[in-house]
Amino acid sequence: MVAKLFDAKYLDPYDHPPSYASHQYIRESSAYRYLIRHGLDQHIPRFYGSWSTIIVDTQGRQRSVRLILTEYIEGTDMAHLRPSDFSPNQRKDLLRQVVEAESRFYTLDLRHRDLVPRNVIVTETRRVVIIDFGLAFIGRSASDIYDFDDPEDLLDGNYISPIVRWWRAQDANDEWALSGWITWSWNQWLVDTWSSDIPDITPAMLKWLPSEEREKPFFYHLFNGCDRTSPKWYVAYKDQMRV
Ligand SMILES: Nc1ncnc2c1ncn2[C@@H]1O[C@H](COP(=O)(O)OP(=O)(O)OP(=O)(O)O)[C@@H](O)[C@H]1O
Ligand SMILES: [Mg+2]
Repeated sequence: MVAKLFDAKYLDPYDHPPSYASHQYIRESSAYRYLIRHGLDQHIPRFYGSWSTIIVDTQGRQRSVRLILTEYIEGTDMAHLRPSDFSPNQRKDLLRQVVEAESRFYTLDLRHRDLVPRNVIVTETRRVVIIDFGLAFIGRSASDIYDFDDPEDLLDGNYISPIVRWWRAQDANDEWALSGWITWSWNQWLVDTWSSDIPDITPAMLKWLPSEEREKPFFYHLFNGCDRTSPKWYVAYKDQMRV
C-alpha cells in the first residue's frame, strides 16, 4: 500500500495556506470514492480509505494529519520512464489509455486538473493507472470551454469526444507536448483512433476548441457539406478533412 499524507508542515507557506493540505485531502479522497461509486476503478489504484493521524514532532508538539491508503502500483510514472524505450505503437497505446480514462472521468463531470506524465503510472504489462487527484474537482467549469454564455454550454454528464477535448493547437506546449512521448501527428491520430465518435460531435461541442481551431478543414467539413449519415462518410471525406 501507499500512504499519502497531506501534511501542511511541508507546504511552502508563501504558496499555500495550511488549509490547502486538507483541501487536497478532501479532493483526492472524494475523487477516489466518486470514481469507484461510478464503476471507473479500472483506471485508478485500489482505494483503502482515509484517516486522520497524530504526528508528534521532535519537540513533542502534536499535529493532526490526514492520509489516504491506496494500492501500491508496481510500475513507474511516465515522468521517470524514457519514451525512447517504447516503440511508437506502444506509446500510442499508453496515450490512448490516458485519453480514454480522462474522457470517462470527464463524462462523469470529474476534472483531474493535473493529468501530467508524473501522475500516470505504467505497469510492467503496460497498463496505465492514473493517480494524484489532489486538485480534482467534481463539476464542469466555465474555464473548460472557450465561449461560456450559459451553464448549459457545459453539457454536464455528456461524453465529449477526445477529438474535441484533446485537440492540440499547433503551438501547444503543455507537459505532454514537451515530454517526448508524442512523436506523431497528434490530431490526425485522435481522428483516426476515435473516428467512431465523429457522427456524434455536435456544433455545441466545438466550444471546447479555440475559435481558430474550429476553422480547420476537419471541423469545417464536419458541419459543411458532409453527409454524416452514410456509414463510411469519414473515409470518403478523409482527404478533404485534413487535420
Ligand atoms: N499508488 C501508487 N503506486 C505507486 N507509486 C505511487 C503511487 N502513488 C504515488 N506514487 C508515486 O509517488 C509520486 C508522488 O505521488 P502523488 O502524485 O500522489 O503526490 P503529490 O505530492 O500530489 O505529487 P505532485 O504534486 O508532485 O504531482 C508519483 O509521481 C508516483 O511516482
Ligand atoms: Mg503527483
